[in-house]
Amino acid sequence: METKVMGVVGSGQMGSGIAQLAAVAGIEVWLVDTDSSALSRATKSIANSIQRFVSRAQLSQEAGKDAMNRLKCTQDLEELRDADVIVEAIVESEDVKKKLFLELDRIAKVSAILASNTSSISITRLASATSRPHQVIGMHFFNPPPIMKLVEIVRGADTSNDTFTKVKALAERFGKSVVCSQDFPGFIVNRILMPMINEAFFALYTGVAAKEDIDTGMKLGLNQKMGPLELADFIGLDVCLSIMKVLHSGLGDPKYSPCPLLVQYVDAGRLGRKRGIGVYSYGKEPEPVKSLARL
Ligand code: NAI
Repeated sequence: METKVMGVVGSGQMGSGIAQLAAVAGIEVWLVDTDSSALSRATKSIANSIQRFVSRAQLSQEAGKDAMNRLKCTQDLEELRDADVIVEAIVESEDVKKKLFLELDRIAKVSAILASNTSSISITRLASATSRPHQVIGMHFFNPPPIMKLVEIVRGADTSNDTFTKVKALAERFGKSVVCSQDFPGFIVNRILMPMINEAFFALYTGVAAKEDIDTGMKLGLNQKMGPLELADFIGLDVCLSIMKVLHSGLGDPKYSPCPLLVQYVDAGRLGRKRGIGVYSYGKEPEPVKSLARL
């Protein structure tokens, strides 16, 4: 059956984008967050983003208005009782997500699918917190969800074919292309991307080249839109480090051990664009000390 009502839990950069996609696709959406100011920020950013689509003539004014009318914000998880599909996009912590899945399992109707937008946490382990592991799945959007074309669907050990088919149809209704991954650390994209970013940090750490040369080399030599260090700053160095740790512990191979320079930048609070400083400086703080970038 087609999805009519959807819940999105977590209204940060990913959750707000996912809620927007669903509302534009004609689905009634409940956007839930424990933080009321996050909900206000999300409503504003969704309205702005929809307005940009309207001004580029990619959406009519009326369709944009209808989408905003389909979006409801709440701090009360119980509102999700009628949702056909619930997508979780809260903080990347296995313990916190498991607690939420336990709650969602109690609240959601028996037929509801529980999906996670996690970048790296095991879907099988999240599913094990519920009584419906065959209806739990990974629906991994890319940042920003309204723009990026891909959804990586992750099948847990017990995810049913029916759940997979419904979630694939939902992603396609959002205009996305789908790839399917089994539930192993990093799934497809981060399994390949994060070791590349980590290796770029090693190249910087061991003095192979300057950061600009590493990024320019990868951009022009491989036709990539962003260099790996620039991309790491965009994703967030803390996020990159946490995914490397998941790869390292989950796959047990020393080749995944995080570069000490990446660890040091995170320890120093240089988390990337969101903090105004990462590998590069974005105007809020002084340029990183040269000797650090050229150890
Ligand atoms: P964010 O920090 O922007 O937003 C998280 C939101 O969840 C916050 O508003 C917070 O108040 C809320 N929250 C935390 N615990 C909650 C709870 N128990 N119940 C309800 N709301 C709660 O995070 P972001 O970047 O949107 O990431 C969310 C998820 O998406 C994470 O699992 C992350 O790994 C994944 N992801 C992130 C991507 C990125 O580029 N940032 C890309 C793809 C996936």
